[in-house]
Amino acid sequence: MPILQIKGYPNPSRLLVGERLVDLARHIPVENPILITDSTVQKYYGNRFPKGSVIPIGTGESVKTLKTVYDLYDRLIRLQADRSCFVVGIGGGIVCDVAGFTASTFLRGVRFGLVATTLLAQADAAIGGKNGVNFSGYKNMVGTIRQPEFVLCDPFVLKTLPEKEVSCGLAEIVKHAAIAREPLLSFMENHAHEILALDRPILEKLIYESVQIKASIVEADEREAGERRKLNFGHTFGHAIETITGLPHGHAVSIGMVMAAEISVQEGSLTQTEVQRLIRLLQRLGLPVAIDLEKDRIFSVLGKDKKREGDGIHFVLLNRLGEARVERISMEKLKRLMSEIHGKS
Ligand SMILES: NC(=O)c1ccc[n+]([C@@H]2O[C@H](COP(=O)([O-])OP(=O)(O)OC[C@H]3O[C@@H](n4cnc5c(N)ncnc54)[C@H](O)[C@@H]3O)[C@@H](O)[C@H]2O)c1
Ligand SMILES: [Zn+2]
Repeated sequence: MPILQIKGYPNPSRLLVGERLVDLARHIPVENPILITDSTVQKYYGNRFPKGSVIPIGTGESVKTLKTVYDLYDRLIRLQADRSCFVVGIGGGIVCDVAGFTASTFLRGVRFGLVATTLLAQADAAIGGKNGVNFSGYKNMVGTIRQPEFVLCDPFVLKTLPEKEVSCGLAEIVKHAAIAREPLLSFMENHAHEILALDRPILEKLIYESVQIKASIVEADEREAGERRKLNFGHTFGHAIETITGLPHGHAVSIGMVMAAEISVQEGSLTQTEVQRLIRLLQRLGLPVAIDLEKDRIFSVLGKDKKREGDGIHFVLLNRLGEARVERISMEKLKRLMSEIHGKS
């Protein structure tokens, strides 16, 4: 498959889907790179890393902080890293965010690449140049937009991924298909069984198409002024549900996509048949599609969403499966629309 690319800041980003981790050295332009990873990825795959100085960080959202970044700066200084160094983040979305942010800010920015090792990172998080950390309980509050020189996605490493992490990645792939490519939805419907069995060529095609969709959206709007907002489909409700219930991100987004699809029906742009099709696919992929939660509680968290602007929110609706639009909806109207869809009031 042809190599995908994002022409972004400060360099183009080559998206190497299907390339193997053991061949990583080929893409690193220096002899002794700095490899930032997490302890789990190091345990499984450390023996396949190229020569370099390995710095492991812990795992989980709690390590995605400025404290970790501070410790990494310290390690880089001790390693006498200078402007000619090259950093590679090897891990899931958390490692990619932390390594990308550290490299983007150390010495005002050094060269870096990413190896995405979760399905969510391969299909979504590692692509697009956003590198952020959490601050004072707020997610991704501090960050940069800077493209890695490459993102390597080796589908073979997914075989050690816990089932929950696989399903979270699948939710983001469904999101990409729902906003931009209907045939990818059909493909997932026709291959749900192989997908769940982690059939490698099938997964590789899903990752490739997902990366292709995200790359083209990012290239059109790197700084999220318009088109890139479509990537938030299902996320307005998803984030609120995640905050309230602590459900895994992809599971909350799955429920959020169904709610956003139902709102699209209310707004007259999607049919109930299409919503049912989306629900069936998510269910076949083992994802939840509804939650026993009062809509008022969801609404009250929405009011605190950092993407809220004044009295409104940029909401992603579907025109049809495979095509999205962004509309600024007032909080009052959103509340009304929410009261008309399924679920507890
Ligand atoms: N920068 C962006 O544009 C962007 C977009 C979406 C999400 N994100 C961020 O991504 C993060 C979530 O990423 P994630 O879901 O990959 O989580 P993660 O990085 O925490 O990885 C999930 C778990 O899987 C383990 N793991 C990683 N690779 C493995 C492998 N091959 N085999 C076995 N275990 C493995 C990790 O150690 C971790 O315990 C969030 O912090 C989110 O904010 C960023
Ligand atoms: Zn997401």
